[in-house]
Formats: sequence, C-alpha cells, structure tokens
Amino acid sequence: MTDLQQETGQPSEHTAPVEAWDSIAALYDEHVAPGESELATAGLRLAGLQAGDTFLDVAAGTGGLSLPAARIGAKVLATDWSPKMIEHFNARASAEALDAEARVMDCHALDIPDNSYDVTGSQFGVMLVPDQAQALREMVRVTKPGGRVLLIAYGDPSEFEALHVFISAVQAVVPEFEGPAEDEPMLEFQVADPDVLRQRLIDAGLRDVTIDTTNQERVAVRTGQQLWDWTLGGNPIPSMLVADLTDRQREDIIQVLDGMIRERSGGNGAAVLTAPLNIGVGTK
Ligand SMILES: C[S@@+](CC[C@H](N)C(=O)[O-])C[C@H]1O[C@@H](n2cnc3c(N)ncnc32)[C@H](O)[C@@H]1O
Repeated sequence: MTDLQQETGQPSEHTAPVEAWDSIAALYDEHVAPGESELATAGLRLAGLQAGDTFLDVAAGTGGLSLPAARIGAKVLATDWSPKMIEHFNARASAEALDAEARVMDCHALDIPDNSYDVTGSQFGVMLVPDQAQALREMVRVTKPGGRVLLIAYGDPSEFEALHVFISAVQAVVPEFEGPAEDEPMLEFQVADPDVLRQRLIDAGLRDVTIDTTNQERVAVRTGQQLWDWTLGGNPIPSMLVADLTDRQREDIIQVLDGMIRERSGGNGAAVLTAPLNIGVGTK
C-alpha cells in the first residue's frame, strides 16, 4: 500500500494497490507490453542509450521498456513493485536470452546505491505514482553523474483515443456510466502538460531537460475483444470502473466496440488508436 493509500485508509479510485497490478500482469504481458516496443525504442534513442550501457527500468512492468533496452545491448535491471509483473519479465528475458535481471522494488525507495546507472528510465510507470516527485528524485539519485533520466508519459487525455472509444462504448450500453471522476484528475495524466513534466524533471535535479511531443502511442486492434483486453490489461482502474457490470453488459459493450473498430478501419485490417506522449529526458 502506498503512503497516499495509508493516509486515506483505503485505495483511492485513482491509485491501484500492488495486488491490483499483480492481477492484471498476465493480460499486460500478452496484450499491452508487446505493442510498446516501437515507442520504447524511440524513447531510448532520445536518451542516447548505447550497447554496453547500464540501464535501470523503474516500474518496469513486464518489460515494455527494458526488453527493448536489452535488445539494444544494454545491461538491464528491471524493477517493479508487482512480483507477478517481474515473473512475466523474467520469462520474456530468459526466452530471448537477454542480459537482463529483475527485482521487486517500490519506486519511491529504490534499494540501489547512488550513482549506479548510465541511463534510468520509466515508461508509463513513474508517470502514475502518487509521490512522483520522490520517485523522480530516486531515479536521479541512482543515475551516474552525466547519465540520463528518461520518463515516457501520456500527453493530453482529451486526445487519448482508446480511452474515449472505450468510454463511449460503455455509455452506449450503460448510459449512466460516468467514467473516471472529473473532480480528481487521474494520476496517469499528472504530467500530461509538457511544461509540468519539464519542471518536475528540473526540480528532481536534472539539467538540459528536453520534452519530445512528436511521438505517439499507436494501439492497433482488429476486434472489440482486443480493445477490451488492452484497456483492462493496461491499468487496474478500468476494471474497477466496470466491476459492477453484468456479463451480458460486457458482451454488449464488446459488440459495440466491434462496430466502432470496423467503422474506423473501413472494415478491413486493424484500426489504429493513438494517444499523445511526452518523452522527457534530462542529464544528471
Ligand atoms: C502501466 S504499467 C507500465 C509498465 C512498463 N513500464 C511498460 O512500459 O510497459 C505501470 C507499472 O507500474 C508499476 N507500479 C505502480 N506503482 C509502483 C510503485 N509504487 N513502485 C514500483 N512499481 C509500481 C505497476 O506494477 C506496473 O507494472
């Protein structure tokens, strides 16, 4: 449980406990992480990762960022607080015989000495944690002087197509469904404004900070079931939001999604749903 959850006494709708991440680890590994390889590689390139560098991945999940880093030839340590995510990471890394280790660790208190890594990164991980300032300071602390810190985060939520398609499909079946509460913005979007991300990286102790907004997340789906699995596998919050739906309602939503995807793809091939990204890089 995080400090925020301890303060409030129970998990907020806007943060998910480690057990919730454990419970989606298999879906994440199958439906989400494999599609991230291209954007992860773009981020690693912006951070200047080279073969032979040491690379620390923070809130690594099943390896969306650290498997591409290991494929570049970096020596990787992947960390995540979810033991199940780490299990899936280990299975992927050993299947490819990659130079990559993994350890269970909370990003707010990394069990790693100061000045250890050439590049430290986090993709869609430190983006969503409750004490992001502390997690960023930790990323900076463990990076070598002159090394780089990389943060890949979602941009403007109003342009997050998969989220809007999913919410409209649920509302087509359950008109009273409101989606995420609007009075408390989702932590996932706390650095959606590139200027906020820039300032947080500077406040964490980085210099020469750049924010790239030219890359997008691209989710290619052919069926409603695929978009359902991507949405519920990517983050525990959608599951919490649809927890009270009946099986019949879920089937109907998937059918609505099928129709929306057919319409977007013109009936053949995959529909591609995009989301804007902020890729921040700074030097220690
Ligand atoms: C959306 S996933 C991103 C995973 C991966 N970085 C990727 O790009 O596919 C978010 C990850 O953050 C992890 N996470 C959330 N809170 C964390 C914390 N306090 N410490 C470490 N990991 C955390 C979750 O377990 C999950 O694996």
